[in-house]
Amino acid sequence: MKRTKYIIANWKMNTTLSEAMVLAGGVLRRTDDLENVKVILLPPFLWLVPIKEQYKRANLGAQDIYSLQSGAFTGEISAEMLKGIAQYILVGHSERRSVFNETDADVNAKLHASLRTNIKPILAVGEENPMRLDGLKDDEITKRVSESRIGKSLISSTRGLSDKDWDRLIIAYEPVWAIGSGRNASGKYAAQVIRALRRMLLKKTNRTIATDVPILYGGSVTRNSVAEYAAQPTIDGVLVGSASLKISEFARIAEIFDEADKWRSDTNENN
Ligand code: PGA
Repeated sequence: MKRTKYIIANWKMNTTLSEAMVLAGGVLRRTDDLENVKVILLPPFLWLVPIKEQYKRANLGAQDIYSLQSGAFTGEISAEMLKGIAQYILVGHSERRSVFNETDADVNAKLHASLRTNIKPILAVGEENPMRLDGLKDDEITKRVSESRIGKSLISSTRGLSDKDWDRLIIAYEPVWAIGSGRNASGKYAAQVIRALRRMLLKKTNRTIATDVPILYGGSVTRNSVAEYAAQPTIDGVLVGSASLKISEFARIAEIFDEADKWRSDTNENN
């Protein structure tokens, strides 16, 4: 099965309403014709509805949710409130974990809340510090990854998921040290970790899930580095933070991934 490739814009706590409308419109115009990637925007909660009303074709997601349905939780937004507005919900982003002290148990509850409302969750996991992987064999890399923060978060955040739930999940591998630092992981390193995650999933779930679940890379992705990830068949797209706030930069990232994926499909067909 050919996996969908995703280019996701995480705007974080940025943009005014007018900036958000210009950014969304500009990105959509530039990326509408791309056939090999799916572009998803994660604006701040407040701008979801105006963007959806103005740009019906936009694929929209929320940057977070609270796990319960309703009640006395001042300031929170539930997955139920996002029904009909967002098609995706990001859970477990490292800023939620580090700034707001979210635990894997909280992330697991959010994942279930998203699935309960039929909104696709995007689960972010990543290690705090770069791991030394060079020279290691596949099984040694798998061991190192499964014993790291990523491996542990992946297992505990996905507790209780059915096979059907796994079908709707997107995973974003985002090394914490690469987020917002300008120090992106190399394509080779990201692919080594993602292949290890797939091997971990093979043990935990089954071959179909381990092979088919989309796994993206995120962390300081720019137009200059995106080709490294697009060249790796195991990487199913990128989650972009600061570079997603500029129309031309983000659109170029999507175009480069789209071209690389098209090129790879054509090459496979001819072989
Ligand atoms: P960055 O953010 O691209 O600014 O590093 C990525 C993210 O936080 O998802």
